[in-house]
Amino acid sequence: MKLMFSLLVAAAINVIPKPASVQVGDGFFDLTKSGGRMEFTVNPASGIAPEGYTLSVSDKGVKAVASDEAGLFYARQTLGQLIQPGGKIPFVEIQDAPRFAWRGFHVDPCRHFMSIEDVKKQIDIMSRYKVNVMHWHLTDDQGWRIEIKKYPRLQEISAWRTEFDGTVYGGYYTQEEIKEVVAYAAERFVTVVPEIEMPGHAISAIRAYPWLSCTGEEVKTFYTWGTPNISLCPGKESTFEFLEDVIKEVVELFPSQYIHIGGDECRKDRWEKCPLCQQRIENETIVADDRGTAVEKLQSYAVHRMEGILAKYGRKLIGWDEILEGGLSPQATVMSWRGESGGKKAAAAGHDVIMTPSSEGMYFDAFQGDSKIEPSTIGNYTTLEKVYNYDPVPAELKAAGKAHHVIGVQCNNWSEYMYEPWQRYYMLFPRAFALAEIAWSSPDGKDFSDFCRRVDAACQTLDEMGIPYHIPLPEQPGGSCNNLVFIDKCVVPFCTTRLEEMVWTLDGSDPTPRSRRYMWPMEFTEDATLKIATLTAYGKLSPIRTINIRKMAPLPASEPEPMKVRRADGRFLSSADFGDAEWKEIQVERLRDIVSLEPYDRNLPDSTRFFAAWAEGSFKVSDTAVYRFSSDCDEVWIDDIKLIDNSSAPVKRYSSQDAELALEKGWHSFRMLYIFNIKGGWNPLRNKSDISIRKAGDSEWKNIKVYHL
Ligand code: ACM
Ligand code: ZN
Repeated sequence: MKLMFSLLVAAAINVIPKPASVQVGDGFFDLTKSGGRMEFTVNPASGIAPEGYTLSVSDKGVKAVASDEAGLFYARQTLGQLIQPGGKIPFVEIQDAPRFAWRGFHVDPCRHFMSIEDVKKQIDIMSRYKVNVMHWHLTDDQGWRIEIKKYPRLQEISAWRTEFDGTVYGGYYTQEEIKEVVAYAAERFVTVVPEIEMPGHAISAIRAYPWLSCTGEEVKTFYTWGTPNISLCPGKESTFEFLEDVIKEVVELFPSQYIHIGGDECRKDRWEKCPLCQQRIENETIVADDRGTAVEKLQSYAVHRMEGILAKYGRKLIGWDEILEGGLSPQATVMSWRGESGGKKAAAAGHDVIMTPSSEGMYFDAFQGDSKIEPSTIGNYTTLEKVYNYDPVPAELKAAGKAHHVIGVQCNNWSEYMYEPWQRYYMLFPRAFALAEIAWSSPDGKDFSDFCRRVDAACQTLDEMGIPYHIPLPEQPGGSCNNLVFIDKCVVPFCTTRLEEMVWTLDGSDPTPRSRRYMWPMEFTEDATLKIATLTAYGKLSPIRTINIRKMAPLPASEPEPMKVRRADGRFLSSADFGDAEWKEIQVERLRDIVSLEPYDRNLPDSTRFFAAWAEGSFKVSDTAVYRFSSDCDEVWIDDIKLIDNSSAPVKRYSSQDAELALEKGWHSFRMLYIFNIKGGWNPLRNKSDISIRKAGDSEWKNIKVYHL
């Protein structure tokens, strides 16, 4: 079965990214029979574009020509993808060259550490698809990952964080390891562009060297995601001395022409009050104007200083699109992430730009399927098709003759929610194949179904390399749920994010490629355990979903009880820690006030008190029907049935524990446990402390209607 599928997929040319021109001949060159020649030539006078190549496979053998070594490397990658099972290569004439010079992928070892082996593995696989820049985000609030010999506390302090539960997490790359990665990448024609974040996202450095901030105060470990209100102080010369010292060591390790200085999401609250920052504003005659406020222009001043430092070492500055605020440095290259507008503005002004807009699918930390059944992410929704459909050159830049300033495109793989190493690959693939294609290939004649056929072939290469990737799961339109109930019968439809077959069983066994195909919505009149998976064209199954479907009589309504909320202060990991906690009744009108009345800075959890709260009471439903419940709180009980338990989830967000109950019209009891603790870096004061409900078949969630006297 598997072999048959493989042959089907292999029967055509499956190269990613799609070459500029392919002519397929009649016949095959057989690698297993000697005789033909393999000839790879670099000829700078060939007239072939940089990184481009020609590749000819005929009865005479294989001949590749390029004007540089990179082009020849890419000819080899194409050839590798043409070789069919059994060693045959179809006769082809290929001419190929990239659309963009910067074909990037970004890795974030700061939020979750990434081993050198994983870094290399990503470089290896990405380079096979002609991606040629690795943007290495080496410093951030939650960890400093690059050894800087002049500042040993960056290794001793900044590389480690103490999590809420007391565990110490972290790591850093020694300069020797970094050299090893840079060399490994160079062998694969990948340039490693390091990012040293300034003036925001620098808490890890400030923890080690508090004099880097405006106040010089001691700073605690930062173990949640977000944007803290402490930044480097641009009022102090010592800040720039530190940054120059760091850059001095960085340029010794990275031959890249570009150095990324971050520049994004810098909170400037403290600059407003800092005498040194204000002095700098005065000395530099920085005044608010239509380009920005005084502190925005102070950030611009700091970025200009960085540009000067980099220029001293012969390097060019690249930064996130916030570096436009307050005026862009003259030679800066902009990485447009908050949509395309920063990139458009910079390109129109004659700056080079890299397009990485999150809104257009370049953020691979977004969901690629239904959030109810996929592993947690930071949010947003980016399918393979969305990535494939993105064109990095906006129409107005083409119209204005500025298209050449878009020098590339990049996917960003922020790791906040990538708790396990496999998740990085799962989020990258197959979307990185679409990135590779839009970065290299012409946008003319896009054909998503042809691309999917080639993705199927590429996924088999991932299988051979043992690399995990996303296969669309069977989803229920309008929201997936693994705990369904019905009163008389229910009908359950399924779909997938791209056209794939699904297979299922009802006898408790795991589906196989030979199980029954899903044809139409499934009707249930008895209790059932449905196991369903997606079956790819090459015979591989997605993870199996197990869906419990239960017939139940509606639970009877009862007399309503007024809501009671009890609260205990303390650092609780779970309800098992409550011990002799002191519970006090508190007055709140609405469930959500458990959170909304809490004074806090979302980004600095240690500035607030941790606590737990139990709420109980009654809520009303207006019909006898099946209802679905959802909540990000720790536990939800309905009519004394424990319906939702998020306690074992890595993060209390995007609850995947939705469940249904049949209820009679009238009042029903609830109990809800909310714990303010930090799990997986997420601060649940950003959640709604509430219970969502919707009637089966409805699309809209509402909060439960709580009884009050
Ligand atoms: C970013 O995502 N803050 C560049
Ligand atoms: Zn300051």
